[in-house]
Amino acid sequence: MRTDDDSWDITESVGATAIGVAAIRAYETGREDALFRDPYAAKLVGAVDSEGWNSLMAGTLSGQGAGGDLGAWSMGSVLIARTLYFDEYFAAAVRAGIRQIVILAAGLDARAYRLEWPSGTRIFELDQPKVLAFKARALADDRPAADRREVAIDLRQDWPTALLDKGFEPDQPTAWLAEGLLRYLPGHAQDKLLEQVLELSAPGSRLALNLGTTGDMADEFRERRRKVMADAGIHLDLENLFYPWEDREDPRTWFAMHRWLVTEGDPVALLEDRGRTVPEAAKAGMGAHILMTATKPRGDETQ
Ligand SMILES: C[S@@+](CC[C@H](N)C(=O)[O-])C[C@H]1O[C@@H](n2cnc3c(N)ncnc32)[C@H](O)[C@@H]1O
Repeated sequence: MRTDDDSWDITESVGATAIGVAAIRAYETGREDALFRDPYAAKLVGAVDSEGWNSLMAGTLSGQGAGGDLGAWSMGSVLIARTLYFDEYFAAAVRAGIRQIVILAAGLDARAYRLEWPSGTRIFELDQPKVLAFKARALADDRPAADRREVAIDLRQDWPTALLDKGFEPDQPTAWLAEGLLRYLPGHAQDKLLEQVLELSAPGSRLALNLGTTGDMADEFRERRRKVMADAGIHLDLENLFYPWEDREDPRTWFAMHRWLVTEGDPVALLEDRGRTVPEAAKAGMGAHILMTATKPRGDETQ
């Protein structure tokens, strides 16, 4: 049961979802035909020291093999597609000269370590204190590829002040990321968070996000996923951690209303364009998943 001020460690409640997505990145990284490589994912998941999570990332969960390939679950496929999409989003942001990056709900995202960043890039990672503390312990021997700064705070609290205290410069354009976050916030908290992003964004700033809508997974797949994971001792009750899709604004319209330019990614095309076969069964769910970038125009661009 979620509450407005709940908190968690990495293995608890919403914290465990960060392990889940890192496990899928580790699984993809281990494939011969991997579409991206995140060498930190396996290290982070391994540090949790759980047989269930280890078998998920190794691809050896019962039912995960023939026909049960993680990629066949729309969520696994979306995760792989969104990793590609957000990696490219950051590459484009730095090509456009942006040097200030804010990763909201960073979880076990290792982009600060694994992507190439121009010198002078500053990356702020925000998440709950215990989640960031776990990550810091697991990656204690690794060096980030940019000036990485942790902001340990709940995103329903006054995170803008905490971010400013860590050296965030609101007059500089920022590339924000909200990956795997919004469904864990109630609609009013999503509105507030996006309004705070707006206030802190200089012209030329952009934000990328993903958001599963109500139909993002057929019941049949949801039940199969739940069972496979429960059999391995992973009790992750995603449906009870999510807040409803129906009680929130669609961020595509929300940003358009605020005169940011919105573009959308297509999770299926992202995979198929790279030669990955997407199972038909996963396509409907993937199509119901929002993958988008919103850009705040500079003064010289039409609004
Ligand atoms: C599915 S994980 C995604 C992590 C990361 N963005 C990724 O894609 O690998 C969800 C993350 O959101 C964080 N999160 C959710 N609600 C939050 C809140 N109110 N304040 C801070 N972090 C939050 C969780 O701690 C967790 O790390």
